[in-house]
Amino acid sequence: KKVVLAYSGGVDTSVCIPYLMHEWGVEEVITLAADLGQGEELKPIQEKALKCGAVQSLVEDATETFVTDYAFPAICANTLYEDRYPLSTALARPLIAKLLVEAAEKYNADAVAHGCTGKGNDQVRFDVGITALNPNLKVLAPAREWGMSREEAITYGEKFGIDFPVKKSSPYSIDRNLLGRSIEAGPLEDPMTEPTEEIYAMTKAIADTPDEPEYVEIGFTKGIPVSINGNELAPVALISQLNETVGKHGVGRIDMIENRVVGIKSREIYETPALLVLIQAHRDLESLTLTADVTRYKRGIEQTYSELIYQGLWYSPLKPALDAFIQQTQSTVSGTVRVKLFKGNAVIVGRQSANSIYAPDLATYGAEDQFDHKAAEGFIYIWGLPTRVWSEKTRGNL
Ligand code: ARG
Ligand code: SIN
Repeated sequence: KKVVLAYSGGVDTSVCIPYLMHEWGVEEVITLAADLGQGEELKPIQEKALKCGAVQSLVEDATETFVTDYAFPAICANTLYEDRYPLSTALARPLIAKLLVEAAEKYNADAVAHGCTGKGNDQVRFDVGITALNPNLKVLAPAREWGMSREEAITYGEKFGIDFPVKKSSPYSIDRNLLGRSIEAGPLEDPMTEPTEEIYAMTKAIADTPDEPEYVEIGFTKGIPVSINGNELAPVALISQLNETVGKHGVGRIDMIENRVVGIKSREIYETPALLVLIQAHRDLESLTLTADVTRYKRGIEQTYSELIYQGLWYSPLKPALDAFIQQTQSTVSGTVRVKLFKGNAVIVGRQSANSIYAPDLATYGAEDQFDHKAAEGFIYIWGLPTRVWSEKTRGNL
């Protein structure tokens, strides 16, 4: 039996290699490490997999696909799970699932494996994603079944000659990619405990941010971010540069209690500087370019879209149906949004678009006013009619 294992180089996924072979009788383990812009050297990880017993160790650079096919659609949908989390980790899972399935098909594997525990969202996203893409593949999740603590897992690995460098063991569980970092566990499990500064890597503490505000102008074409301060940038470069600029001002941190798919609440810290500001700016540009009814109807679609991503349903038939709606709405969402970054805040201070449906001659209180004030009277008479009739009938009787 041959298995393709999602590999990160960490304790759990490393121990998965001998575990699959010695406990579950797998003959060949092929590992796959995905580069999603986490800013980590993947060469050592590739070599480590072979030392742990993998027959082959694959590395896939999928950073650009991650941005264009996963992050950009989410920005067009203004996705914030439970109104706050921009899904930086959740968006990576369906892409990793796709890479795993492609590798399994290429190398004729019988199954795909991952190192997720049985308590998280990621197992749901991997399992559902993988089986949606290829229902014939089995999904193996050793860490969901082995019942070993972290120390036991390390001891188990050492039996097979895997050494875990004694880097001061972090109490945190951290996931990272180009879009952001998700930090949980350890002292954060007490919802009342304030996170310490050491957990952050992409955003500065307010005390260390510049004392002058900085303005950035983000350009969008049909809902897609394409430029910063007038300079057109490729997708990955745009996100990287914006992460830098936004994070420097301490913007992009989220501390929340969220509802996991498996029914439990968890406390999660995120830092997602660029993604958060891009969603804020995109949503603002829509306020200038979309009609009121489209904007309001889209809010419901956006919430459904956010939940679909969080809940691991990226490859469900609902996704392309929602995409069709969203894409239709984006045809006029082009223009520029001006953002002021200062001491942990990102404030939208300006926006413009060639497709703006903000009509100055209708909005103005000055002499150029073209709005027909007389017409308002008849409109209000009819608009208020049902309420007035109701009041005449019921006043004093209720
Ligand atoms: N709760 C987040 C999500 O479901 C992040 C999951 C991974 N987090 C982590 N710290 N390992 O998308
Ligand atoms: C895990 O348990 O694998 C990480 C946390 C999560 O998936 O939410």
